Amino acid sequence: MNKRVMVTGINGLLGQNIVQEFSRDHDIYGVDLTPGIFGASNNIHVKQLDLNDTKVLEEHIRQVRPDSIIHTAAYTNVDRAEEDQDIAFSLNGQVPASIARMCMDIDIPLVHISTDYVFSGDSGPYRETDACDARGKYSLSKLAGEKAVLESGAEVAVIRPNVMYGHGENLRSSFVDWLLTELRNERSVRIVDDQYNNPTYARRLAFVIRMVIEQKAWDIWHFGSKEIVSRYTFALKIADTFGLSSALINAISTVDLNQKAPRPLRSGLICEKLKKELNFPIMSIDAELALLKEEMNVA
Ligand SMILES: NC(=O)c1ccc[n+]([C@@H]2O[C@H](COP(=O)([O-])OP(=O)(O)OC[C@H]3O[C@@H](n4cnc5c(N)ncnc54)[C@H](OP(=O)(O)O)[C@@H]3O)[C@@H](O)[C@H]2O)c1
Repeated sequence: MNKRVMVTGINGLLGQNIVQEFSRDHDIYGVDLTPGIFGASNNIHVKQLDLNDTKVLEEHIRQVRPDSIIHTAAYTNVDRAEEDQDIAFSLNGQVPASIARMCMDIDIPLVHISTDYVFSGDSGPYRETDACDARGKYSLSKLAGEKAVLESGAEVAVIRPNVMYGHGENLRSSFVDWLLTELRNERSVRIVDDQYNNPTYARRLAFVIRMVIEQKAWDIWHFGSKEIVSRYTFALKIADTFGLSSALINAISTVDLNQKAPRPLRSGLICEKLKKELNFPIMSIDAELALLKEEMNVA
């Protein structure tokens, strides 16, 4: 019999990639605000609910009795969180705490998706053991969620991606899709050249999640690509992979964007632990972008 996995935020970028990874041998119980892209299927079931309604969520979890929960849903609008801090702290801080408590109650593990924003970005790249120092409301709310699940006593894995990209349908925001659309329509784009990361390919992150569950690796894990690059360099690599001209990509500084929330500039996630302890190969950005191109079926 298939194992049952519950996925919050199933319609999001990571949620859709988890479905790709798990649906061949799992029964998936997705939770999201809208019905999304998943129609009737034998092993993919989507329940529309607001995770802030913990009573309804708890009833649903008790009814489904999943073998594990993967919590991807979050309030992800970094700038709006500066004003909507109550909403951000509720979804990113209190909801993970409630889910972890429910996991503890029924004795199932939780995979919680966090972010590199738990670090200041003053002196990255960061290891799993580095001290967190979040700046800005989104970052602080995600750090609150991380702390709550780690202190819950449940079997928990916290996985931190950074600058996640990948393929999916009807996504609200996808850096790669946006960039490809702009370049194909010959519109110029301005990309920051002072924010450094090692972007995380969502398709492989879904595989990392599977591995963590299968190996019962209840710990903190960092996952991104091999090299740390500026967002500008990442954009050039995307253009190159998809055979588009990079002439329209202009470098700007983060301060030029005048954003409400601070951004970690020197970030990036050291992934040695994943490589050494779970024997997972960390790939170059070019190799992962080539996989994305294949996935998107672009000639
Ligand atoms: N994307 C990145 O660059 C990045 C980087 C580092 C870490 N992360 C973390 O990775 C995780 C997944 O990110 P993602 O990019 O896949 O996010 P996403 O595409 O925004 O997906 C999140 C999903 O959760 C749903 N959701 C939001 N509020 C909900 C609620 N109250 N109840 C039920 N569902 C709700 C959203 O629905 P609506 O769309 O209808 O709101 C959306 O379908 C998040 O925890 C994020 O913090 C992301």
